[in-house]
Amino acid sequence: MARHTVVTMPGDGIGRTVLPESIRVLRAVGFDADYVHGDIGWDFWASEGNALPERTVELLAKHKLGLFGAITSKPRKEADAELRPELRGKGYSYFSPIVGMRQRFNLDICVRPCRSFVGNSLNFVRRTASGGIEEPKVDAVIFRQNTEGSYAGIEWTDPPPAVREALGLHPKYKVFADVPGKDMAISLRLVTRKATNRIIDAAFAHARKHGYKSVTVCEKPNVLRETSGMFEDEARKVKEKYPEIQLWSTNIDAQMMWLTKNPEDYGVLVAENLFGDIISDAFAGLVGGLGFACSGNIGSDVAVFEPTHGSAPKYAELDPPIVNPIAMILSAVMLLEYVGEGEKATRVRNAVAAVVKEGKVRTYDMARLPGGAQVFAKGAATTGQMTDAIVAHL
Ligand code: NAI
Ligand code: MG
Repeated sequence: MARHTVVTMPGDGIGRTVLPESIRVLRAVGFDADYVHGDIGWDFWASEGNALPERTVELLAKHKLGLFGAITSKPRKEADAELRPELRGKGYSYFSPIVGMRQRFNLDICVRPCRSFVGNSLNFVRRTASGGIEEPKVDAVIFRQNTEGSYAGIEWTDPPPAVREALGLHPKYKVFADVPGKDMAISLRLVTRKATNRIIDAAFAHARKHGYKSVTVCEKPNVLRETSGMFEDEARKVKEKYPEIQLWSTNIDAQMMWLTKNPEDYGVLVAENLFGDIISDAFAGLVGGLGFACSGNIGSDVAVFEPTHGSAPKYAELDPPIVNPIAMILSAVMLLEYVGEGEKATRVRNAVAAVVKEGKVRTYDMARLPGGAQVFAKGAATTGQMTDAIVAHL
């Protein structure tokens, strides 16, 4: 197998804490790769007006494989104020580097597995009819369209006259025609057949490869007739290639209810960008929350793996660090699977499972403690101790 080079982009805050932990695990499991650092995040916005420097884009274009920690973004005013004085007023405006990366490399398939680990005190539980408590096994994988839909970025407050004129072609626009521009905001939900087909096909292919019985399209076709409608159409077409897998369809709102009533019923789910974002956070909450939520951003050429969580600035300066490295480590597991190192991926996953099941080493979130330096006095493990325990189980 060709030797891989992984572009490691720690980013900001706890991204810098957890990313090295995942490399430690990759090395310990014997993944023979080179690691090159990629600059990304707030410091590069402040010092050079670009949170995703071109040199990092070039590294990704060359090596095609990235591990990313997290970045900090701040509202426009703060961003402008933190820009190096020489660069101010020169037309620089802050743009999220992770969104930038997804767009530059068309990382259109976002995969977010949410699987419960036995013994995790954060797992979802429910009451049975007889008053007992049961803990359903959750094993859901959300396929979120990552580049378009409601997050396509086509939006205006006070839309230009040509846009308003064009909207006038739609009969439903009549009631808005007299609203003053400054009192009107538009965010466009735009989906294309090609990208819709790709995300749905990726969902079905995953279901086939990993033995899931169903793919659930989670949209709102009764209201969003055109965009959700296109999802439903494409899903029916794609399903024909996968006769052994059932195609289910739920409405996003109903799904939010079903996933806490019967989360064990769902296998692979697929949705547009915004709905996929919502469903994946909801499922993540059933299996341990941000400390456990991993993800992959996968294009046809480049793939970048990252925890779902952000830079958690309030914990970034704590020494020793308190945050849970498992979300980052599970993202590295996804990277291993992606490059065909399934056996090593399974070994890491099993090591995480063993540590969680033993319950002896728990970061503050797993112990349900409020965060802060005081957590160690209450028995919480440090970030590094969690990684040590996982490595010891490999
Ligand atoms: P966040 O995910 O950084 O943190 C929210 C809370 O979740 C934390 O305060 C902490 O209580 C908990 N948490 C997060 N990661 C954890 C971990 N590994 N272990 C234990 N607990 C953990 O989200 P927040 O506070 O909304 O945003 C902070 C910054 O991160 C913002 O600047 C935001 O823009 C950015 N962000 C970046 C993302 C990315 O890089 N992909 C994603 C989400 C937010
Ligand atoms: Mg989110």
